[in-house]
Amino acid sequence: MDCQTQTVQRAIDALPRHRLSHLPTPLQLCTRLTTVLNGPRIWVKRDDMTGLALGGNKTRYLEFTLAEATAQGYDAVVLSAVVQSNHCRQFAAACARLNLKGVIVLREDDSTMGRSHPAQGNYLLDRLYGIDIRVASPADINETIEQEKQRLNNAGHKTFTGLSGLLSRVAYIQCALEIERQCQDESIAPGHLVIGSGGNSLAGLLAGFALLGRPLRLLGTPQSKMSQATGISEQIARQAEQAAAHIGLTCSADPALIKVTDEYVGRGFGHPEQRTLDAIRLLARHEGILVDPTYSGKAFACLVDQLRQGRFSDSEDIIFVHTGGTPLLFAYGEELLV
Ligand SMILES: Cc1ncc(COP(=O)(O)O)c(C=O)c1O
Repeated sequence: MDCQTQTVQRAIDALPRHRLSHLPTPLQLCTRLTTVLNGPRIWVKRDDMTGLALGGNKTRYLEFTLAEATAQGYDAVVLSAVVQSNHCRQFAAACARLNLKGVIVLREDDSTMGRSHPAQGNYLLDRLYGIDIRVASPADINETIEQEKQRLNNAGHKTFTGLSGLLSRVAYIQCALEIERQCQDESIAPGHLVIGSGGNSLAGLLAGFALLGRPLRLLGTPQSKMSQATGISEQIARQAEQAAAHIGLTCSADPALIKVTDEYVGRGFGHPEQRTLDAIRLLARHEGILVDPTYSGKAFACLVDQLRQGRFSDSEDIIFVHTGGTPLLFAYGEELLV
């Protein structure tokens, strides 16, 4: 490990942390995919293999966000998201592992990501983990979270509700460190990295690569529309600098190294377009790797499309960060078989 890599690793290691993931996740060279796309070499950073609860980027986040809660004496946590949330599934498993009292408040609607019948995908796994589940309509979510917090406190728990975005970004500095070491081991200097993220993972990676002096261009696809007018790259660069500051380091994050594109969101959150379904099959059939219809599949569709448009140089290496979401495939059976 070189000196700066060691400095960053030590700064991360000083934070409270529950070890929940199997790290480092592999950086896998995809030779068949590279051949079929006839372009630059593609490497997949397998964060779908973080280990807990069938993997995904949230396991990295939870190592730090739950450790912050328990370090402050909280023994119960309420988390809320859509019914088919990957975060809730990994949280449910983490609570089981850490013997922490957890409640998930799931937002139900009639979309595939919001449906609790039949019990499929992430929602099925939530049930297997045995976590307390409340399902509520969008209008009742806030009240339900408050009720659950009160219920737990009345039962003698100290209940936490605000898992930290800042610590989620710090968790992805760790991912950048791993990629840095893996690039050194493979003697590669990739030009671009593509990831399904509109914020936290992207900001952490930007911070990490800025701290390590690796000027990698990052292309992020969010899961729903984000206004380009709000200066999203600048906002993410600021979040990256705050994440570095949180571990006591200073970095200058260049917004020009980040691009966030709405182009692959399609009809919106939870609606896979035809090109996402095609991209899912392409990766499955050439590498045996599964991406999801909502997050990682849209990001992978972005990579394929940009590559076909000639946006990357054939002589560069490209990293695709697979953020997980694989259990969602089981909630999208009908769409996937069309
Ligand atoms: C599989 C998967 N990928 C990517 C994301 C986006 O993560 P973030 O925007 O926090 O970077 C999520 C968030 O829910 C996810 O579940």
